[in-house]
Amino acid sequence: MCLKEITNKIRSMSLEEKIGQLNQAGLWDFELLCEEVRKGRVGSVILADSATAGNDEQQRVIIDQLNELQRIAVEESPSHIPLIFGRDIIHGYRTVLPVPLAAAASFNPDVVEKAYRAVAYEAANDGVHWTFSPMIDISRDPRWGRCIEGFGEDPYLTSKMGQSVIRGFQNADNKKGDSIAACAKHYLGYGAVEGGRDYGKAEISEYTLRNYYLKPFKAAIEADVATVMNSFSEISGQPVVSSRYLLHDLLKDELGFRGFVISDWAAVAQLVTQGVAKDRKEAAALSANAELDMDMVDGCYIDYLSGLVAEGKVSEETIDKMVYRVLYIKEKFGLFEHPFITRQKIDYQEHLELSKQCSDEVITLLKNKDVLPLDRSKKIALLGPFLHEKRSLLGSWTWDFDIRMVKSIAEVFEEYAGRELLVFPQSNYLWDDIIPALGDVDTVILALGESYRVSGENNCLANIDLPKEQLELAKRIKGLGKKVIGVFCFGRPIGLGEADIYFDAILYAWQAGTCAARSIVDIIYGKVNPSGKLPITFPRSTGQIPIYYNYHTMPRNGMGYYGEGSNYLDCCSTPMYPFGYGMSYTKFAYSEARCEKTALTLEELKNGKKFKVGVTVTNTGEYDGKETVQCYVRDLLATMARPVRELKGFSKILLKRGEFKEVVFELGSEELGFYNGKGEFCVEPGEFDIFIGGDCTTNNKIKITAVSETEN
Ligand code: GLC
Repeated sequence: MCLKEITNKIRSMSLEEKIGQLNQAGLWDFELLCEEVRKGRVGSVILADSATAGNDEQQRVIIDQLNELQRIAVEESPSHIPLIFGRDIIHGYRTVLPVPLAAAASFNPDVVEKAYRAVAYEAANDGVHWTFSPMIDISRDPRWGRCIEGFGEDPYLTSKMGQSVIRGFQNADNKKGDSIAACAKHYLGYGAVEGGRDYGKAEISEYTLRNYYLKPFKAAIEADVATVMNSFSEISGQPVVSSRYLLHDLLKDELGFRGFVISDWAAVAQLVTQGVAKDRKEAAALSANAELDMDMVDGCYIDYLSGLVAEGKVSEETIDKMVYRVLYIKEKFGLFEHPFITRQKIDYQEHLELSKQCSDEVITLLKNKDVLPLDRSKKIALLGPFLHEKRSLLGSWTWDFDIRMVKSIAEVFEEYAGRELLVFPQSNYLWDDIIPALGDVDTVILALGESYRVSGENNCLANIDLPKEQLELAKRIKGLGKKVIGVFCFGRPIGLGEADIYFDAILYAWQAGTCAARSIVDIIYGKVNPSGKLPITFPRSTGQIPIYYNYHTMPRNGMGYYGEGSNYLDCCSTPMYPFGYGMSYTKFAYSEARCEKTALTLEELKNGKKFKVGVTVTNTGEYDGKETVQCYVRDLLATMARPVRELKGFSKILLKRGEFKEVVFELGSEELGFYNGKGEFCVEPGEFDIFIGGDCTTNNKIKITAVSETEN
């Protein structure tokens, strides 16, 4: 069906049929749903059983149910328009990938894209047309459980990772049956909720909104994301779900978004709870007039839009525009041509390999006092609450997995180095058992972590320091004079200020999916050289939050955070580990940053000319390894306070022992400009420091100048 035919189709539909397309229903009563579909009252079905699907087990997708619903829609409903089936395929299906925050630690969009392509195929093969992913909310607060679902604190990294996930889910054709429509969420500013409390309010200025929280959505639209989901939160008193400025003027008119907006779970009805709608009817009017296109499961649209149109409170023209967007996406993803699904055979081995490539590259080595990699012949002891764990290695927001594909850390160690292991069972650790059992073993692997149940939606923590019982275990093992290698399987960053001293090595394994344990063991024995870099700042303790690398210099020198001076009397101002940081088993040497031409006029920049700033990176160590070369920009003098650094480029390169490569970053208006407080993008004259190095604290810099015409 071409776009003109969509318009004609809409003209032929009754108002009730149109409103039916804007209603997403749940699948908890199959017979009732069949009746609703038959009457043309349903445009989409969400394959989730509860409001916090990420935390609860979910019914598996039953293809026969989907095909029967689709048959009724296509053959028996008044408009014969196919349904679009949506499900939260956040970071895996049968094959599970690292949680998204971990995926960002790979700094490798290509590896992530390929892995998400495999996940899209698995989901599409089960009849899922649409996923509510990627979540691209910038987050600077690890207390917020949903920080694991996003890609960290930086707009540029989040933009690149969000685009790679969208490209993974959606392919150029979109009609080959191996892609699913993606959904950029949660628009907008959800990650800024106060105190890391989920669903809370966010106070965000236009200045911050445009320079941080909006950027990943702009990038998602450039990647042609099919749908967008609103955030539950309110921005400075305005609930997003009823904001015409945010949902229509900014998202659709200014950014050119052509797909449709789906509400978050019952977000329309929740306007009543938020005290901005007196009842569900008024809530429906507010959201429809904001052009929130589809209503998830609360029935406000299907119950009231017809009456609201009759009362002149919502125009039929508005309904037509919303319906057009929905049909446009259904057409784009081939639902009219291929409404039914026939399952194909899948080679899961190939998908596992892609998941393993991801988990290899996300695991981040934070500390190594010459203990890693281990020699396979060395006798070691394995201890800790995560040693035999499987489910939590997969993280929150995943239920379609096959747990038989998952091995525990202990199982993989035993496969790899069986005879030289002292493996402690999963039981209460009785010290009078451990101490004699450890005997002369001088190296202990401590497998630590958090349950997937304490991150994700509405699972926020007031204290994100290493759990006390795990800290105690580390202290006591260290107290025996052993070398302690910590393997940390947490979804979020944790406060390591008190714990760090008890570890000789810290391997932050995140919750890295189906192949997590295989990657952990391969890295410990040096089969894989770790290359992860932190996508989010690691505080020393909860009290430092929020602490992030792209902060604004404070008015009094020495009062900055992230290392300048101190803000607290009882804590130094540096983070435990900075944004972009991660070690390798090898060493990388950086040449001084250099630049072809260190001055360009504003006119040249406006005409697309760019600064070319580069370095030569050499592998000077004993192992082949991957390094993420990072480029940061600092605007030294501007009409608004600007961050001390902003990531504007990164390149992950493989260097064999002794090899060197040149890495060049091109910086133009997009990278040097910013949105002022009035939402205007501006590139101002003046000097910029360009930093290139292995993390955000690098001082390898070069100065460039944007010259105004008057100075020239
Ligand atoms: C939840 C989440 C959202 C998810 C949706 C459907 O409340 O906020 O991210 O996609 O409902 O499960």
